[in-house]
Amino acid sequence: MIFSKVAPADWQAYKELRLQALAENPQAFAVTIEEAESRTDEAWQELLQQPHICTLMVVEDGQPVGMVRAQWKPKNEKLRHIADIGSLFVANSQRGKGIGKQLMIKLEAVLKEQYEILKMKLFVMEDNPAAQLYEKMGYRQVGLLKREIGHEGVWYNEYLYEKWIG
Ligand SMILES: CC(C)(COP(=O)(O)OP(=O)(O)OC[C@H]1O[C@@H](n2cnc3c(N)ncnc32)[C@H](O)[C@@H]1OP(=O)(O)O)[C@@H](O)C(=O)NCCC(=O)NCCS
Repeated sequence: MIFSKVAPADWQAYKELRLQALAENPQAFAVTIEEAESRTDEAWQELLQQPHICTLMVVEDGQPVGMVRAQWKPKNEKLRHIADIGSLFVANSQRGKGIGKQLMIKLEAVLKEQYEILKMKLFVMEDNPAAQLYEKMGYRQVGLLKREIGHEGVWYNEYLYEKWIG
């Protein structure tokens, strides 16, 4: 199993896995599959070219099976220590093997060592059991945001989590 930072040249593998995540678990993410599918190839590549975005992917037998992404605000002095985490996904067939946890551990290490990030911040839908993974890793639930997501006439609440890694 290989964990690595996704380079712009890997954009097609990244796109494929992200679309798989949005198809398999649409309720877990704020972006719809239709929105992602309507992105141009250039837009997918641009996502991986941004210096303030870091995407990690796990590859097993040549097949991408997991990913996570972080983005931050390097030009905003007061906020530059915070990374917003999103898109955590492990393919159904590979779950329960510790891959999600390993992705988060590696992401924290990369962000701290290479980008001087001190604080992780993320949102989880109210009924998403992924919250248990974050809690086991020391993320602290600091709030419940009401009606944060609206989809097809239904409102959903989201928990806000944070972890100091400095
Ligand atoms: C959440 C997700 C990434 C977990 O990936 P995974 O590789 O199966 O997780 P791991 O095997 O690394 O689990 C790590 C720990 O979290 C716990 N955990 C993970 N998923 C869990 C779940 N659905 N319910 C309860 N506990 C869970 C595990 O029991 C494990 O605990 P342990 O360290 O005590 O053994 C995966 O289920 C997924 O892709 N879900 C759909 C997308 C999603 O919800 N993403 C998060 C958006 S906020």
